[in-house]
Amino acid sequence: MSETILEIQDVETYYGKIHALRGISFSVQAGEIVTLLGANGAGKSTTLRTISGLNRAARGSITFMGQDITRMPPHDIVAMGLIHVPEGRRVFKGMTIKENLELGSFTLNDDTERRRRMDHVFEMFPVLYERRQRDAALLSGGEQQMLAMGRALMADTKVLLLDEPSMGLAPTMVQSIMKIIKRLNAEGVTILLVEQNAKAALKFANYGYVLETGSIVVKGEAEQLRKDESIVKAYLGE
Ligand SMILES: Nc1ncnc2c1ncn2[C@@H]1O[C@H](COP(=O)(O)OP(=O)(O)OP(=O)(O)O)[C@@H](O)[C@H]1O
Ligand SMILES: [Mg+2]
Repeated sequence: MSETILEIQDVETYYGKIHALRGISFSVQAGEIVTLLGANGAGKSTTLRTISGLNRAARGSITFMGQDITRMPPHDIVAMGLIHVPEGRRVFKGMTIKENLELGSFTLNDDTERRRRMDHVFEMFPVLYERRQRDAALLSGGEQQMLAMGRALMADTKVLLLDEPSMGLAPTMVQSIMKIIKRLNAEGVTILLVEQNAKAALKFANYGYVLETGSIVVKGEAEQLRKDESIVKAYLGE
């Protein structure tokens, strides 16, 4: 039995005259890892930004946990547990790691719960614990990705939108990030993952969608997509 946690219906998004999303529809079941693939400029980031309210859908609707969030302001969407870790992992430099994490739970009025969540993040990312009093600017790229994900977990995350978390990271760091994504999913967080590295993403996703110039051109079980030579060749070549 699966339940739809996120549903995108006929969504169109523009940047001025640029028609970035041309009527896309897809859904994410609770507990799944779904990956959104496609070439540069296909509209992957725009899809995530439209879901989290950073870009406005000109048409169509977005439903999260049964509620229409299409026109909801981003902070209200965050408060419902739909959290977006954007491309380029923005951490707040000039603030410590601990302070960065605290920002992730700014809507929370319960210090005990905040501490519990921070302990959980530190347990998941021991390196962040070791450096908790240090400036976030001193972290490596991979550690900044961990911090960005940790900050997301300080909210009561139901669905995590991850935009190219492995971008620019060394292979071993990519492995660690992928492991963490799996673990988060095992703990009950539903994941919508945008990746350039299609093969890696399809290895552990349940379902995949391929975007091309603002439209979904291929969809299917991740395993099927991965095995389909013609799809791999046409859309997922490195
Ligand atoms: N701020 C913006 N202003 C104008 N056009 C934009 C803006 N951001 C994206 N676009 C355009 O919208 C389309 C989709 O871009 P988007 O960033 O969503 O693609 P993407 O699939 O995430 O690409 P990448 O793999 O390079 O991250 C592209 O044609 C892009 O040039
Ligand atoms: Mg992008």
